Amino acid sequence: MKILITGGKGMLGRTMQRHFGEHDLLVADLPEVDITNVLSVNNAMSHFNPDLVVHCAAMTNVDGCEADPDSAYKINALGSAIVAMAANRAGARLIAISTDYVFDGAADRPYTEFDQTSPNTVYGSSKLAGEDAIRVHCPDHTIIRIAWLYGNTGPSFLHTMRKLGSEEGSPLKVVDDQIGNPTSTDAVAGLIERLMEQPVPGVIHGSCEGTATWFEFAKEIFEVYGLKRGLVPCSTQEFPRPAPRPANSRLDKQVLRMVGMSSMPHWREALTGFVMQGGRAE
Ligand SMILES: NC(=O)c1ccc[n+]([C@@H]2O[C@H](COP(=O)([O-])OP(=O)(O)OC[C@H]3O[C@@H](n4cnc5c(N)ncnc54)[C@H](OP(=O)(O)O)[C@@H]3O)[C@@H](O)[C@H]2O)c1
Repeated sequence: MKILITGGKGMLGRTMQRHFGEHDLLVADLPEVDITNVLSVNNAMSHFNPDLVVHCAAMTNVDGCEADPDSAYKINALGSAIVAMAANRAGARLIAISTDYVFDGAADRPYTEFDQTSPNTVYGSSKLAGEDAIRVHCPDHTIIRIAWLYGNTGPSFLHTMRKLGSEEGSPLKVVDDQIGNPTSTDAVAGLIERLMEQPVPGVIHGSCEGTATWFEFAKEIFEVYGLKRGLVPCSTQEFPRPAPRPANSRLDKQVLRMVGMSSMPHWREALTGFVMQGGRAE
């Protein structure tokens, strides 16, 4: 199969390259391909003529998006529209990656694919505008919403914890009142593999199973990497950020259940698998 991966040099994109190495791949990332440039995307698409486009490219720095909304909407919304139009014109299926930030996190239960979206950050709003553009411009699509992602290359919470955990110092304060589903890039690549066999239209939640607070996730990271620095729980209020973080990022995998596809791995199992894989170079 011919697969074009936008943002193929990013954290998820590199895992995609490793998982789909037996396919004919085109890594469409800066500087060679700019998803905000129609000509650049159309050129890549028409020369490569993919069967499948996996759209990972995004502006992912949540606080950076808050500080620079024009760039966030340009990449996450306009860029997604350009990719969707080009994929549609090429007759390719589009699998696009989205985020838990399309919800504000106020619900007291995991969000399903059928819940009303309500972003309250520029990152979340721009990603939601990207989802909407994909729905309009490329009918043959699946949008996978994921959350709390880590992979071999950072930046990610896991990378930050590994770095800070191996430094000497006072116990590290980690937020314990935000809850979500830590998710490995390998688990997401595995889901994409299954979607290639069994296409599912519309939106799918694709984070790992099981929930944790950031503090609980950090405790497990320290445990599996044998990091000795102390950890103490703290509140969101003690750790103010420019863009508000959702208190509840849990995603219910209702669509996966409904279509009878196997569930996502539990986050602890995915983390163990990640560590056993031993930081393989990608
Ligand atoms: N990381 C998370 O925790 C998380 C959680 C939920 C959802 N997601 C979603 O998952 C997807 C993959 O995330 P990730 O963490 O792998 O992101 P990432 O590591 O930031 O990778 C994104 C890639 O897209 C590239 N890119 C940015 N602007 C571009 C443009 N105009 N044209 C072409 N490429 C461009 C980036 O290049 P530069 O590095 O040069 O900018 C980077 O290589 C994104 O859609 C993200 O929104 C991520």
